[in-house]
Amino acid sequence: MTKITDALTVGPFTLKNRLVLPPMATSKGQNGFVTDDLCEYYAARSQAGIGLIITEHHFVLPNGQATLNQVSVSRDEDIPGLRKLAQAIHQDGSKAVLQINHAGSAAMPELALAGKAIGPSAIANANPYFQPRYPKGVDMAIPNEMTHEDIKTVVEAFRQAARRAKEAGFDGVEIHSAHGYLFSQFYSPLMNHRTDEYTGKTIEGRTKIQVETIKAIRQEVGPDFFISLRLGAIDDREGGSQASEAGEAAKIFEAAGINMISISGGANAYLRQGHTEEGFFQDVSRIVKEAVSIPVLLTGNIRTKARAEALLNDGACDLVGVGRPLLGDPQYVKELLD
Ligand SMILES: Cc1cc2nc3c(=O)[nH]c(=O)nc-3n(C[C@H](O)[C@H](O)[C@H](O)COP(=O)(O)O)c2cc1C
Repeated sequence: MTKITDALTVGPFTLKNRLVLPPMATSKGQNGFVTDDLCEYYAARSQAGIGLIITEHHFVLPNGQATLNQVSVSRDEDIPGLRKLAQAIHQDGSKAVLQINHAGSAAMPELALAGKAIGPSAIANANPYFQPRYPKGVDMAIPNEMTHEDIKTVVEAFRQAARRAKEAGFDGVEIHSAHGYLFSQFYSPLMNHRTDEYTGKTIEGRTKIQVETIKAIRQEVGPDFFISLRLGAIDDREGGSQASEAGEAAKIFEAAGINMISISGGANAYLRQGHTEEGFFQDVSRIVKEAVSIPVLLTGNIRTKARAEALLNDGACDLVGVGRPLLGDPQYVKELLD
């Protein structure tokens, strides 16, 4: 019987337990830089005893910024701040993984309304949670359809972001391909209407930009640096990504070189309509776990040690993410680890 307090080797490192702090944007950055406040927030969660801390998303290119107070990994001058952040997470023995992201059509309204947002197709974002970021009465902006040159630029930006994360002392990176951001837009047939090799009509097309990114990062950072991908596996609506496709996609990402896959939503973001049970993406994570041999992380309303350990033992996942309770109170770990 697996316990949440059991260690687990994940790719190049061993985690002291199965509890993960999933990425959660804190809005504690300033002008794209790490702040002391941000470091203190993560240090407190390391001190609480969490095995793996995946930071909030960091933008890899200026036109991929999602919110004003988001931290950047798009410039070499970001490295000293990121080094402090990695140290804060390592302080009490957590492993430190930096989530890296491009917002695509979900770029902050200041950028999108100025015509600077890009996306797989010239289609407004299908994640309704982005609409309230816009001024009242203003519709979400239509992004510019990406050219092949734009795709190369984005892949290269992810590669450089991973290099900076490694130089800053992180143990790995997580590629954000969930919640309606750029790679999630490519994965979603709702937002990817392309007809070229990145087509939204096949799994190969929907996963191609992520595969190119994984390979570019792996080439840059070598075999001993951890790479995770967070997959927005379902859009939870007619015509969107389906749970049944997630196994095939996960296999493609595993073959490209990731060390872990994290399961969440796509156009439905990190929630699932009509579901309040602990671990509400567990049907999807089971399909993925059957398909791959790398560890699978499941997040979404997991709140108790009993439920977390049931999920770890009945084939739903290898690691559990607990987000919102730990966002406000790092001592919530007592409910899970004691
Ligand atoms: C305030 C907030 C910010 C979030 N920011 C991110 C993010 O930067 N990247 C990401 O992949 N998920 C993000 N998420 C989703 C969480 O990682 C997690 O999937 C979600 O909170 C559901 O898990 P929970 O029920 O345990 O909170 C965010 C969630 C919240 C509440």
